Amino acid sequence: MNESRQTLFGSYDLAFMRRALDLSRKGRFSVSPNPRVGCVIVREPSASADGIFRVIGEGFHLRKGLPHAERVALDSCAEDPRGSTLFVTLEPCCHHGATPPCTEAILKAGIRRVVAATTDPFPQVAGQGIKWLRNHGVQVDVGLLEDEARFENRYFLHRHEIGLPWVILKAAVSLDGKLSTATGQSKWITGEEARTHVHSLRAEVDAILVGVGTVLTDDPLLTARPSVSEIHDWKPTIRVVLDPQGLISSSSRLLKTAKDSPVWIFLADSVSPSQKERIETAGARVDFVSCSDEKLDLIQILRRLAEANILSLLVEGGGNVHTSFLENQLVNEVAIYIAPVLVGGKPSPTFYMGQGVSTMKEAPRLERVNRRLLGPDTLIRGILKWKL
Ligand SMILES: NC(=O)c1ccc[n+]([C@@H]2O[C@H](COP(=O)([O-])OP(=O)(O)OC[C@H]3O[C@@H](n4cnc5c(N)ncnc54)[C@H](OP(=O)(O)O)[C@@H]3O)[C@@H](O)[C@H]2O)c1
Repeated sequence: MNESRQTLFGSYDLAFMRRALDLSRKGRFSVSPNPRVGCVIVREPSASADGIFRVIGEGFHLRKGLPHAERVALDSCAEDPRGSTLFVTLEPCCHHGATPPCTEAILKAGIRRVVAATTDPFPQVAGQGIKWLRNHGVQVDVGLLEDEARFENRYFLHRHEIGLPWVILKAAVSLDGKLSTATGQSKWITGEEARTHVHSLRAEVDAILVGVGTVLTDDPLLTARPSVSEIHDWKPTIRVVLDPQGLISSSSRLLKTAKDSPVWIFLADSVSPSQKERIETAGARVDFVSCSDEKLDLIQILRRLAEANILSLLVEGGGNVHTSFLENQLVNEVAIYIAPVLVGGKPSPTFYMGQGVSTMKEAPRLERVNRRLLGPDTLIRGILKWKL
């Protein structure tokens, strides 16, 4: 936050925005393609009889079509919010979408001041919400905890600012960085706690992608099966396969469950229509994509996913697919589960093969690194910063 912005905010503002950010996280398993938004309404000392700060309402956005965080918070107010301050993690909307504009609800409720962490890049909002409120006499201060708010909404912001889904590369590796043995065995590198954790990561994203090599070797189900105590509301994750030649078997677990939980297969445009029909009959969506260097064009695939409102994509391997995403600099975040086991062997794959970088200066590093112990294993998760 720059200094001129900092002066807009008092020390209490920070605490209320932190609370709004915590609330926004409650929508993370269900809210996509909408943004995560939390909201807190505070009666400030100058406007209260008892002269203290008091939270009088709060809320978060749970799902597209349901009321936005601001309306949930206003509806929850224990007393008339007239004259109070509303803290929200994203600029209030000013358009008629699935729900009416929040700006109108804020004005009608008599809110005196709005503190927004960041602006909304969504074309129908994009600063207009702030402008509308100011034009109607509401004080609006923007930029408090902006970095944290942008990080929390990175899937949504990336989709609307860059036009692609946010890509998270996930892998389970041995201490020597191997994805499997030289014979292709990878069950199981990590223990139960790490594997349970993967299910909540899967539940948080819109889609999971693997290469057909992984489908042929492991026959994975790739559904999100989070522990019920942790998550109360989530939507089915789309399972995506890169299958240039249409090799996926009709008896694979993915195709056998395609009618219950969505599967999307990308084929090379040279594959025969009868193969497409076979896979479609099983219940999967099938799209043709062009190839470059005999690999399916990843940018084309990501654009199609983004058009289908997929904001976040978990790339689960195997090594060849991981490597292609890395070599094309299409990875935004990395989540690696490291097990204290050695596999060895030059032919055993890692998740970054190909040419690699020549000097350490060129090596992309993780930022905002988060380390977490999961039984005997360690998760390292962070944002990948590419050197230009
Ligand atoms: N430890 C882990 O976290 C983990 C996770 C997943 C898998 N695995 C292990 O990894 C192994 C499978 O990995 P794999 O490398 O053989 O197969 P893979 O990466 O799952 O799939 C590679 C296949 O995807 C196709 N493909 C299409 N477009 C591609 C593109 N743009 N870039 C790369 N590939 C593309 C390739 O087609 P063409 O070759 O026809 O071009 C190739 O057939 C298994 O042993 C599995 O157990 C481990």
